[in-house]
This record gives sequence, C-alpha cells and structure tokens, in this order.
Amino acid sequence: MSIIRKAIIPVAGFGTRFLPVTKSIPKEMIPIIDKPTIQYIVEEAVDSGITDILLVTSKHKKSIEDYFDNFKELESVLEKSKNYEMLEMIKKLSNMVNITFVRQKEQNGLGHAIYHGKTFVGDEPFCVLLGDDIVHNDNKPCLKQLIECHEKHGGTILGVQEVERKDVSKYGIVDGEKIGDSLYKVNNLIEKPSIEEAPTNVAILGRYVISPSIFSHLEKASSGKLGEIQLTDSLVKLIDDEDVFAYTFEGTRYDIGDKVGYLKATIDFSLRDQKMKGIITNYLGEKLK
Ligand code: G1P
Repeated sequence: MSIIRKAIIPVAGFGTRFLPVTKSIPKEMIPIIDKPTIQYIVEEAVDSGITDILLVTSKHKKSIEDYFDNFKELESVLEKSKNYEMLEMIKKLSNMVNITFVRQKEQNGLGHAIYHGKTFVGDEPFCVLLGDDIVHNDNKPCLKQLIECHEKHGGTILGVQEVERKDVSKYGIVDGEKIGDSLYKVNNLIEKPSIEEAPTNVAILGRYVISPSIFSHLEKASSGKLGEIQLTDSLVKLIDDEDVFAYTFEGTRYDIGDKVGYLKATIDFSLRDQKMKGIITNYLGEKLK
C-alpha cells in the first residue's frame, strides 16, 4: 500500500455565488475571520500528512500564488518591530508544504480540472479537496479519516455525509450497500439528481482519495451534467474495475460557497477562538433578545 502524499485542490472557478466581491478577489481568498478559506483547506491536507499540493488555478488567481510564496520584505519589517508571533506565522505559511500550480485555461468542469493533475500524480493514489467545503474536527482532520479508511480497505474513498433530501440536487449522490458503521460499497453515483431520481441522501462532500486509474477515464470523458466534464462520471467508470467506497466522515461541514454557510462558519470559528468567544456570545445574546 503506497503512502498518500499528494493532493489536488481545484481553485479555478469564478465564484459567481459570491459576486460582486469575486470580480477582483478569488473566492478562495475571502477570509473566515483572518485566514483565507484556502488556508483552512491546505492546513487540513498538511495535518493529514500531505506533502505535495497541486493547485489548479486560472486567470485572476495570482493572489493565491502570492499568498503561499515567501515575503522577505514583510518578514524583515516584522523582525525589526519584534513581532515574532506574526513573523513565525508568516514564515510557516510559505514553508508548510510544497505547492505547485497549473493553469486551467477554460473552466470545463471538475473532471477537467482534476485531469490537469495527471503528471503531478503519476501512479499513486491521491487526494482531492474542494474549497467550498470546510470541515472542522478537533481530533482528526476529515482527509486523515479518509486516508486511514484507504489504508484499511484500499480503493477509492469518497467522503460523504447525509444531507437533507431537499438538497440532493446540489451534490454527487451515492447509491451503495452499507458494509460497516460508516462505510458503503458504492454501486453507482449520480451527479446532482432531482429529489425523485436520488437513490439516497448520502452526498459526496468535497473530500476524495482517488486511484490513479481515474485519469484513463477522465481522458476519454465527455460532457455530463451542465455540459461539463464531471469527476463523478469518471468515478462511476472506476466502479467496474476497482473498489469504490463511501466513508461517512466525522466533523462539522460548512458549505462556504453558500452565503449562509459562510456566515455560519464565521460565527462558529469566532466562537471557537478563546479571545473572541465571550465577546461574540454576549453580542449574539444581546441581538437575539
Ligand atoms: C462538486 C461535485 C459534487 C460534490 C460537490 C461537493 O460539485 O461535482 O459531486 O457533491 O462538489 O461540494 P460542485 O459543488 O463543484 O458543483
């Protein structure tokens, strides 16, 4: 069993749900308190043992590249002003993991974005993390849970949770057989089905461990739902040759691509911060009176 070291994070999307701000700020750079959302995703990968990350970017995403680069001038200003805490934080940001970038010249769907990682991945199983899903778990990062599931069972692992039936059309939905407390053997996947079409309410939520054989399917993939090359369609093709499992991860998941989900995440993260917790609790208490 090979150790999982690599992850792909697609960040090429326009972020239309967050217009107008995303006209000039990549949605991945919008902060939850003081950290851009992409940092939460990268930190989850690093805390799960990932050493190499490929960000699939596009035009107008340069600020993401700058964010993970070093910034010597800023470091010397912080050093001179003896702001060592901030200095450490800034240095850590640019050193925590090897990050490389590849440009997706046209936005042709998630499957198309992931295909850009073919050379980066080679023939090892790899991870995919989607930036719209932030998962909080104090004990074990979501991706680490999936990696451990892969170490135990092999194959491809999709991170899932049950969603409300009314929301199934936002997600890739799993049709499978329950073979353990948190584990399904996947028989089929349907990308964004209607409520009537959905076989279950078990939804893929932005975390994957994927077999490198996916690339031979992505290579031949044609457009699916919304006229885009869907990762889900190629995952379905994998099921014929290899095991595909869905694993119900533990953790609170926020859909930060949605304004309400984003606000919920901001409130929850502020309540987890020891310095802010009391102030925010009092403030919310006052507001809700
Ligand atoms: C993508 C996937 C979908 C998955 C979702 C999770 O859709 O295609 O299968 O359930 O991410 O957030 P998107 O939200 O990019 O349209």
